[in-house]
This record gives sequence, C-alpha cells and structure tokens, in this order.
Amino acid sequence: MYLTKKQEAILRGEEGWAKKKCLEILVGLGEIYGADHLIPITSTQISGVSYKTLGEYGLQWVESLAPAKAAVPSTLNPAGMDLSLWSEMGIPEDFAEKQMRVIRAYESLGITPLCSCTPYLSGMAPRFGEHVAWSESSAVCYINSYLGARTNREGGPSALASALTGYTANYGLHLDENRKPNVVVEVGAKLSGLSDYSALGYYLGKILQQGVPYLKGLTFFGSDEAKALSAAAAASGGIALFHAEGFTPEARSDLSGLERLHVDDVVLKGVYGELSTVSSGEVDLVAIGCPHTSINELRAAAALVKGKKVAPSTKLWLFTSLTTKALAERLGIISKIEEAGGKVYTDCCMIVAPLERMGFKRIVVNSAKAALYAPTASKVDVVFTTLEDCIDIALKGRVS
Ligand code: F3S
Repeated sequence: MYLTKKQEAILRGEEGWAKKKCLEILVGLGEIYGADHLIPITSTQISGVSYKTLGEYGLQWVESLAPAKAAVPSTLNPAGMDLSLWSEMGIPEDFAEKQMRVIRAYESLGITPLCSCTPYLSGMAPRFGEHVAWSESSAVCYINSYLGARTNREGGPSALASALTGYTANYGLHLDENRKPNVVVEVGAKLSGLSDYSALGYYLGKILQQGVPYLKGLTFFGSDEAKALSAAAAASGGIALFHAEGFTPEARSDLSGLERLHVDDVVLKGVYGELSTVSSGEVDLVAIGCPHTSINELRAAAALVKGKKVAPSTKLWLFTSLTTKALAERLGIISKIEEAGGKVYTDCCMIVAPLERMGFKRIVVNSAKAALYAPTASKVDVVFTTLEDCIDIALKGRVS
C-alpha cells in the first residue's frame, strides 16, 4: 500500500505510540481489503461506548491511548446510561462508575461526548461525497444512502484509529464501483408509519444480507423514514447503502439486468409477528428511540399521551440525543411526556443499557432493530408494533 512520508513517520512512532498503533490497524485493514492507499477523512463516529459492550479490556485500551488527540471532529455512540439521570433510571452504581470512566477516557482523547447514534441530527451531517469513518451501522447506512457521504461499516477500534490519525483505508464504499445497486426492490406494500419502514428495512437486510438495493415505489421518504429503514436493514443484514428512487442523491443507475424483489403488505405485516416473542401479558417497559428519536418523533409521542397517564406498573422511556432533548425542552414537549408519566433519556438506549440487571423482563418497541437485538442483548421478551400501539400499551400496562 502506498503511504505518504507523513504516514510513514507515524508508523515509525514519530508522533507517539498511540498514533503508531492506530495507523498499524488502518494499514492492516487496508491490506486485508486490498486498499491502494489511505485517504483523509473529515469526521468519525465511534461505537463501543457502553461499558456493557466495551468491557474491561476495551476500557483499558481506550485509556491506554492518552495523551493522543483526535485529528478530526469525532462523536460517540450511545453509552449504557443517561450520563446525568442514570440514578433515576435505576442503573447499578458499579456500572455507572465504569461507564463514566469510559466517557472520561474518550473525552481525554479530544472526542466529543455526544453519545448518540443520530449525530447527523445534531450538526454532524457529512456532505455528499465526503469521506468519513463511522461505526454505528444505522448511521453508516443513513449517511451513505440519504446524504451520499462515504463510509464503510467501521468497527469501534478502526473508527477510533481513524479519529486519532485522520485517515481510513481506501476500499469498499469509498469507491464508486461498490456503490452501484445490485438488486431492484419493488415496494408494493403500503407504508403508513415509521415502524413499517423499520419492518421493510428488516426484511431487506434479512433477504439481501450485504446487497445494495435500489428501492422503487416509495411515495414518501423523509429523514425519519430513512433513519428507521437504515437501522433495521443494517441490523438484520449487512446493508450499508441503498438507493431510494426519487429521494436519495445517487439513485440514478442503469438497472437493466438486475434481479428484482417484490415486497407486499403480507410480507411487511409478517415482520411484526416474526420479531415479537410474546403476544399478551403485562409489560415492564415501553421503549421508543432506536435509533434516537428526532424532534418530530418526540412531538408525535407527546401528542399521543396528552391528557393520559402511563400505567403505574409500566415505564415509558424515550431515548434521544442531548441536543434533541434540549430543543424538545424549549418547545414544551418533554414536560408533556413527563406529565403523562413518561421519561426522556439521553446518551443511551434500550439495547446498550444494562436492562438485564435492572429487572426488566418484557419490553415493547416500535423498532425492528431493537426487537431483533433485545432478546439476546438484554434477555427480555419483546413486542414489535407501531408507535400508536406502543403508547396504548404503555397506558394500559399490558399487551392484550
Ligand atoms: Fe441506536 Fe441503540 Fe438502536 S445505538 S440504533 S438506539 S440499538
């Protein structure tokens, strides 16, 4: 692989041990994937933040990199708790102590502790054609597809290596030839809410795995719809890029000769049953915000709970970013949710929080990604349904 004089100097350790190790990671990845050189990137987004997923060795690795500093603007994936309200959430103290060490370790590297899987809603939105190194799979799929930025699905360590050096290896979705669609998806199903887009994403990921689908037939596809579809498609398979005709910036390809897949209402509705592990009974937690909610989603939830009360035996938690919550507070949205007995937490989510240690046994979500991950990640039963049903269940305290 061709390296510049500066990159060779970093590899010789002239800019410190941490940058040398990080560049070794990137060169190693580049050699595995056949990259010809390293390219500069303009931002990173780093996963492996919750102590639940990072663990002790991961924490020690991040701490060992000081005093190196990030070379480009960098943010973090959700942590395992709201960094301010963790005690109110019922997070165990020993977990909270480790989690704060993780955050301090990243901060000491010059990484911004905006712990969110939707930093593109908080001012970290790369432009069309911009090369970046992001690792949250839902955000990777969103920025590749909806914004036309360029990133591979980085792991936490490789995104951190890119943060500290400012480079990534030039392969995969950084190259034009790998961004072309290889299957046409005709969406015949009627999509009526964000959970339907999430169900569609789940189905596409499951069937196509690593493909680059070209979606035809969508009649509306805003940022929230793209966010929901991206998260599920990247979770059930390895989809990191799709094109949506009429909506995404690179959806202009020659489609002749490509295989076709049709998605109808029956397929879509089947996803709800497939992902739900129970169909009746009491519910501990209704969790909205996978990926982190936008201001529109918070507003919709507030309208649904207006003048009502969450059942005493059930919690209604919504997860969002620090910046979206601040805006929602100013707009009076948070107080409406709290008056009904709900809570809005930042910095974390229902999958990377230690739910299994907090007594939750059955949760309800409107995200196919959360429904797919929760039984394994948090050892809970799950119901996947629409936002309207989620709120209704929170008010009744049970699925019937
Ligand atoms: Fe985000 Fe957590 Fe879902 S990181 S995409 S809310 S699993």
